[in-house]
Amino acid sequence: MMKAQPYTLIHLKRVSSTQDWLREWAQMGAQEGLALLADEQYAGRGRLSRRWESPPGGLYLSILLKPEIPLALASRLTMLVSLAAIDACKDIAHIRPTPKWPNDLLAHGKKLAGVLTELHSSGSHLEFAIIGLGMNVNNDFTQSPLHDTAISLKMLTNKHHDVNILAKTFLDALFSRYLTFIQGESPHLEWAQRLEPVGRRVRVEHPPRAPLEGLVTGVSPDGALLIIDDAGQEHAIWAGDIIPV
Ligand code: BTN
Repeated sequence: MMKAQPYTLIHLKRVSSTQDWLREWAQMGAQEGLALLADEQYAGRGRLSRRWESPPGGLYLSILLKPEIPLALASRLTMLVSLAAIDACKDIAHIRPTPKWPNDLLAHGKKLAGVLTELHSSGSHLEFAIIGLGMNVNNDFTQSPLHDTAISLKMLTNKHHDVNILAKTFLDALFSRYLTFIQGESPHLEWAQRLEPVGRRVRVEHPPRAPLEGLVTGVSPDGALLIIDDAGQEHAIWAGDIIPV
């Protein structure tokens, strides 16, 4: 059940990972809507257990959600957070990043932000989800090895942005979208409208299965990338490397 004030934001200085801190709080019974924002993380992580560099200047935020949805629909949460992060970038920095399946936000083809959805379930019941948003805000990658692949709001706008205000703007957008989400509305069509690589031809590499080539047509309500191959058969892709061809 949603509270009148849908979230509580706690600001931390330096932590291992806001995901780990929030998981501990969730396991001790924290309520839906608890959000942890850290100035820096020394063990920030991304999808596929990759490291997420988290020096001061970025936004490192995790949110605890307890939607009553089947586990199979939990990837809708990633789409929801991605759309709310786009809302916040538009409001604060007047830029509109492009979501990239399954969890990135891009600007000028470089990574601006990533979403990490971690689920805790018993059987097919979702107990809680911890959703992390990492965004490059005031980071400067001009002298960094990440220069070719990463970009920040400051690099895009030439302005410093207040991470606290950005976090609150994002959470306001998220919880305003969350009201319709918990009533059963799926964000997949809105997300697919802007999604990279919808409308493009790609090759999917997903061993041990044979590579697949085809046109990306959209996203299913449960978050799979939909691809039509040259024989006209539709495939739903859950994981794999998606390479433009
Ligand atoms: C990705 O692109 O792979 C997702 C990156 C998610 C990073 C955020 S930063 C806040 C939260 N804490 C973490 O350790 N990771 C997520």
